[in-house]
Amino acid sequence: VETTRSSIKNLPTSGIGLLLAISEDSEAISLGVGSPNFDTPPHIIGAANHALHTGRSHYSPDYGIPELQTAIASKIASETGVYLDPLTEIVVTAGSSPALFNSIMSLVDTNDDVLIPTPSYFAYDFISRIVGGHSIIVPSYEEHGFVPTPDDLAEAVTPESKVLVICSPNNPTGAVWGLDSLKAAADIAMDHNLIVLSDELYQRIVFDGTVAHSILEIDGLVDRCIVINGLSKSHAMAGFRIGWVAGSEELLEGFKALHQYNSICAPMVSQHAALAALTGPDEPVREMIDEYARRRNLLVGRLAGEVPLMSVKAPKGSIFMFPSVKHLIESHLDDMVAYLKGTEGRMALNRLPPSLFRMEDLQSSGSLVAMLFLYARARVVTASGSFFGKSGEGFIRMSFAPTSEAINEAVDRIIRALEPWE
Ligand SMILES: Cc1ncc(COP(=O)(O)O)c(C=O)c1O
Repeated sequence: VETTRSSIKNLPTSGIGLLLAISEDSEAISLGVGSPNFDTPPHIIGAANHALHTGRSHYSPDYGIPELQTAIASKIASETGVYLDPLTEIVVTAGSSPALFNSIMSLVDTNDDVLIPTPSYFAYDFISRIVGGHSIIVPSYEEHGFVPTPDDLAEAVTPESKVLVICSPNNPTGAVWGLDSLKAAADIAMDHNLIVLSDELYQRIVFDGTVAHSILEIDGLVDRCIVINGLSKSHAMAGFRIGWVAGSEELLEGFKALHQYNSICAPMVSQHAALAALTGPDEPVREMIDEYARRRNLLVGRLAGEVPLMSVKAPKGSIFMFPSVKHLIESHLDDMVAYLKGTEGRMALNRLPPSLFRMEDLQSSGSLVAMLFLYARARVVTASGSFFGKSGEGFIRMSFAPTSEAINEAVDRIIRALEPWE
């Protein structure tokens, strides 16, 4: 028998497997994955503890505990001016991942098209394919701050297009869409009868006074958008698994059916922790964001000043930056490939499972070569920009979530690895 459904079997290999395998190397410094390294703030842990000790270890109502739904609706109202009904227009989920999965599955029929601006988080493309839809990849470029132009977006629309995905602040580029870009996207959605799926998970993590606007702020969009958010990043709560969807009752109808069958409810203990996160002191979150800002400045400053083979712009939000390695690739692709095929390179790469990497893959992307070279030679983990869509080619993603010490050590190692060529 065929053990796996064809839409999963036919998925292209995702870079995430390779990234996670490399991140396993304890000798390596990882700027590869986007996990906040802060402890969850103590008042949130206290609330979780209290919940555990007062019997909150059972099912909650399907769509969440009403106090948490209300806190989420209040947060949305105060930030966007849009009042959603807490009990019917907010569903609490086990992280934002199932919120994304169930949203796409509930909206996208077989052969519907999903417009996905890239570079972007890979889940949108993969989920769309799994449920039988087609991904229409809309490239965006560094010269436009990695936000697609309205013309590029409009040109990508097909008669089968049903959903437009927006990820702002963006993983992997750190781009934050301005109100004008959101408005332009909203106009396209209205003209072509599209539903906007807005992943706003990094909304709180913005720098230099940037505001990450929500798609809900655009007039007329409330009936054609689903907003996804969660606490994994902003509150360093990834292990609690709390996210949510917000949208009109009509839009969430299919979502709720899926949620019932595949989750029943988000973890009850975590929901109480989330309630403390949203209603308790905000100071710990602001402190984490200030520290991310310092780490961002450190990494940008050191790369800009000391690594001329890379070129970096400070991201406006998220915990990622997306430096260009085009200069490195143009001048030293052959040298990097030769190193990776030599004794030291092979020793590093031979540890990777053959299902995730073969030497032939080096021909596919200069960014992948740069990522693997930095891993093998410098023992620094980054993510190839090619993992996030074709327009990510020529870039690598670096997370500045690790500590300043780790960031400094990573840059020192990169400098030593590139020294012969600088
Ligand atoms: C843009 C984006 N959306 C969603 C997720 C999923 O996060 P979680 O399921 O922990 O909420 C991630 C995780 O890195 C992400 O970067």
